[in-house]
Amino acid sequence: MKTAASLIKIDTTHAQAHLSAETIRQAEQDALAAIQTLHTGSGVGNDFLGWLTLPEEMLERDLCKEVQTVADKLRHECLYIICIGIGGSYLGGKAVMEALGDHFSTHRKPDLGRPQVLFAGNNISSDYLHDLMDLVVDKPFGIVNISKSGTTTEPAIAFRMLSQYLVARDGQEVAKRRIVAITDKKRGALRRLADEQGYDTFVIPDNVGGRFSVLTPVGLLPIALAGFDIEALLQGASDTALLYSSTEHPLETPAVQYAVTRQAAYRERAVSEVLVAFEPRLSAIGQWWMQLFGESEGKEGKGLLPLSLTYTTDLHSMGQWIQQGPHNILETMIVVDTPRDTITIPTDEQNLDGLNYLAGETMHYVNEQAHLGTLLAHEDGGVPVLQLQLPQIDARTIGAFIYTMEYAVAVSGYMMGINPFDQPGVEDYKRNMFALLAKPGFESETKVMRQRLNK
Ligand code: PA5
Repeated sequence: MKTAASLIKIDTTHAQAHLSAETIRQAEQDALAAIQTLHTGSGVGNDFLGWLTLPEEMLERDLCKEVQTVADKLRHECLYIICIGIGGSYLGGKAVMEALGDHFSTHRKPDLGRPQVLFAGNNISSDYLHDLMDLVVDKPFGIVNISKSGTTTEPAIAFRMLSQYLVARDGQEVAKRRIVAITDKKRGALRRLADEQGYDTFVIPDNVGGRFSVLTPVGLLPIALAGFDIEALLQGASDTALLYSSTEHPLETPAVQYAVTRQAAYRERAVSEVLVAFEPRLSAIGQWWMQLFGESEGKEGKGLLPLSLTYTTDLHSMGQWIQQGPHNILETMIVVDTPRDTITIPTDEQNLDGLNYLAGETMHYVNEQAHLGTLLAHEDGGVPVLQLQLPQIDARTIGAFIYTMEYAVAVSGYMMGINPFDQPGVEDYKRNMFALLAKPGFESETKVMRQRLNK
């Protein structure tokens, strides 16, 4: 079996130079044990390892084609598709769409066959929902409702509002055609509702947690609706999965080198990891990464605080802190070798702005010097800097990146001795909110919480 070389490359030298050889050696030993735990399924959370083999399964079972068929149908009927979901039920899809898309896609006029994909149910703002309903008031729109549990309050409210509006405006039959539900196979209110109403549905596998679900229909349907190549995305992830499962040198893979270096930094002094991209269209990938690492590792009093920034934009707000604040962070830079479009800086006869020294250079060249200058400056400031290198931003590469990060967080989490696949802390706020909203079944908690709040 021939495995493709990794699309994602990693450079650890500017990070490991700040860390002791002994800490790195120990982290490597722990990583090998963590990999063994992961691949033998012998660790905590082992009922949530479906993501390990998911990309290949999605391709083999033709699920990818089924998703594409539903997407094509909706794309030709709607100008707007509203994807409802929160956390793992929207961040991955949004991240890939923004990475592969045009920065100004939401400012362009949608067409039948080229609808705009929007998001709802990721907040409880009445102003947001009002503005969204106002936007689609006289336009054909569809709804993709995504909730693994099928009971999360934010998406449930948004779905009730938007689906009732669609039914009232366009009738039951049209609404039925234009609503898709993605949820658990059997459980939850959304499953009941979808079965009752006869919506098209996709299943979120039991063994794939929310933040690992971007390569299930949860992420794939929104991405296909936005017109991107989900097969290439899965292929990039699948090739990476094959590489990680078959390598004889696990310590050399980008995911494991990443896990080792961030754990070594954490053990020595880092309390936070800042992921930075020099391409604004990777900003939403940063948001997805924050959830993946934050929710997977932040437990039992442990975990690096994940923060995502976009450079050079945020160098003008957070650069000072990173350069000269407390020396307790790790910085991971995402570097893209080749931009999608090349823009060359023109010459100017008068040169009043003094920029002629850059005339004839590409914007990408200037961005690259900004990256290298920042790398050296932050290293001089005592910050260990990791670099993840992508050849370009396309579906295959983003698929490889997603899988690399999922694999890395699993290894890194096991190295810390925590369960990387649960999120007990998220449940706490949901329970408190239900109690404060006096949801039936929460009566005793309602009383206690209102007393605590003097309400
Ligand atoms: O990663 C997770 O599990 C969470 O962020 C969930 O995705 C989020 O809470 C939404 O849950 P659900 O899909 O059940 O509505």
